[in-house]
Amino acid sequence: LSILVLHGPNLNLLGQREPGIYGSLTLEEINHLLAAEAFKLEVKVTALQSNHEGVLLDAIHGALGQYQGIVINAGAYTHTSLALRDAIAAVNLPVVEVHLSNIYRREDFRHHSYIAPVVIGQISGFGVQSYLLGLQALVHHLKKDEV
Ligand code: DQA
Repeated sequence: LSILVLHGPNLNLLGQREPGIYGSLTLEEINHLLAAEAFKLEVKVTALQSNHEGVLLDAIHGALGQYQGIVINAGAYTHTSLALRDAIAAVNLPVVEVHLSNIYRREDFRHHSYIAPVVIGQISGFGVQSYLLGLQALVHHLKKDEV
């Protein structure tokens, strides 16, 4: 199984960006932990970060036929992008939405996710574990594990 991990806007600044909210790990460190988790799960992970909505859309379109599922932290596009939601719905690949912070205990404008209705599920608030749990959940879903 090949899984695409997408990181949206401003996540390239992890480590220095509001560490009280997002933790002190850099994106590179998060990607290393994802690679280690992928090795354990015996799947292949490719990670991509972009600050550009269109690049994320192209990556979702391009995933069709190349990847069996997507783990996405769409950053602020979560709360703004109808195009991202339409792209996910269009490719019809299983997607897991993740957030480092718990978006529901933050500002009201973060409580709504445009992509939530088109993903399998969402994991929010566990820091880097949100990504690792998201990857596990997606792989379990793809393997149709009962536990
Ligand atoms: C985030 C939460 C979003 O509200 C925010 O815009 C981000 C990061 C998270 O991982 O907690 O950029 O997706």
